[in-house]
Amino acid sequence: MSGYPYYIAGWQINALKFIPALRQGRSIPDPARPTLNILLIGSGGREHALAWALSASSIVSKLYCAPGNAGIADVAESVPIAVTDLDGLVAFAKEKRIDFAVIGPEGPLVAGLWDRFEASGIKAFGPSEKAAQLEGSKGFVKSLCSANDIPTAAYKRFKEAAPAKVYAETLGLPVVIKADGLAAGKGVIIAETKADADRAIDYMFDGSFGAAGQEIVVEEFLEGEEASFFVLTDGEHVLPLAGAQDHKRAFDGDKGPNTGGMGAYSPAPVLTQTIIDQALARIVKPTIAAMAARGMPYMGVLYAGLMITKDGPKLIEYNCRFGDPECQVLMMRLKSDLAPALIACRDKVLDNIDLRWHDDVALTVVMAANGYPGDYKKGSVIEGLDEAAKLPGVQIFHAATAREGGKLIATGGRVLNVTAMGPTVSEARARAYAAVDLIRWPGGFCRRDIGWRAVAREIKD
Ligand code: AMP
Ligand code: GLY
Repeated sequence: MSGYPYYIAGWQINALKFIPALRQGRSIPDPARPTLNILLIGSGGREHALAWALSASSIVSKLYCAPGNAGIADVAESVPIAVTDLDGLVAFAKEKRIDFAVIGPEGPLVAGLWDRFEASGIKAFGPSEKAAQLEGSKGFVKSLCSANDIPTAAYKRFKEAAPAKVYAETLGLPVVIKADGLAAGKGVIIAETKADADRAIDYMFDGSFGAAGQEIVVEEFLEGEEASFFVLTDGEHVLPLAGAQDHKRAFDGDKGPNTGGMGAYSPAPVLTQTIIDQALARIVKPTIAAMAARGMPYMGVLYAGLMITKDGPKLIEYNCRFGDPECQVLMMRLKSDLAPALIACRDKVLDNIDLRWHDDVALTVVMAANGYPGDYKKGSVIEGLDEAAKLPGVQIFHAATAREGGKLIATGGRVLNVTAMGPTVSEARARAYAAVDLIRWPGGFCRRDIGWRAVAREIKD
């Protein structure tokens, strides 16, 4: 590795020294280490996992999270500022002399929070507003893929329904219709019939998606197995993280409506080293190079949603942030200190960082409020978490919780991520469900088959 060691806040950092022991406790006091004030932005399970990892960092002395949740409050100081309040977040960071801000969700990234922090002299992890278009505009990504020979589904962009319908017919069935902008995971319709495709196109243009639906992408349906692949990048160097698979559908057997993700596990058996090498060489690295060449270098974590087809990996979509709930399983498996790696992305010294991972499998089960992803009630009481969290290898990340009068209540759709490690996916899964079964929450539900593909592979092998 070149340029080793490097410096953060004037202190020498040697990422290889960040050791697994960190996981067993909070930061290891060491006067020779820098002590940083970190502000994490977000309130979901992803942010709880990031807060958990950052709070164990030996270079973090103070961790704030805005706005956080009841679980995050155990490892960080909650700050009641919404992720949409960019002015408030920047003012708080200045007031508290934040050394580094970590932006979890896509919303504030696409809205330019990274740029706002940097303009105020606060270093931040995440892509700039321009670079966040990799998630913020599906049309932008598709054009970038075409210009750089990046394998993805055949597609066209449309601003009107009639030509979109004609093109959809040429692609055969099923066919995929997408709103161009951010639509909280609901902007994709896979149409099985021509009538469904026409309806989906009309639906996208009828204003339901607001600005996100002013332009649509019509694309070929890719056959294969989906996987999530994550890399850190400083705009030039690329550091692959582990792979993961999630379950997007609400119900067992991958049935029911699409959700933000009902469970995940890492590693993803379908992401073999060959597939990872192909994804890096054909998809991720050309994207990073193209973004730099366009004068909008991409920094932060890049999440490539891949379809592993018979012709190799193809890009379904990019996200400009960690996956949720994929981040939860990645953080469980990460042995190294997260903080220097994130800072190295911003400081453009990622080639100095090497990350180590547990070989064990991590699996997370999302517990969601009854009715999710449709209408659901907020405010139901959750009990039994303490007993569940004591099971070996189990870590419970909160996704939408608050404490009210000594009780833990659900405040959103996806509420808890019951996560466990194990030497095999079957064992990790058994542990996670043993913990789920200790949680008393009549207002919630979960899938009972998270990891089924990987478990089936394990049994076959
Ligand atoms: P996206 O919001 O682009 O991730 O799409 C949501 C989900 O729709 C993906 O996770 C896939 O399961 C599915 N999907 C999107 N595009 C395609 C495609 N071209 N072929 C097959 N499935 C797709
Ligand atoms: N789990 C899917 C996502 O974070 O987009």
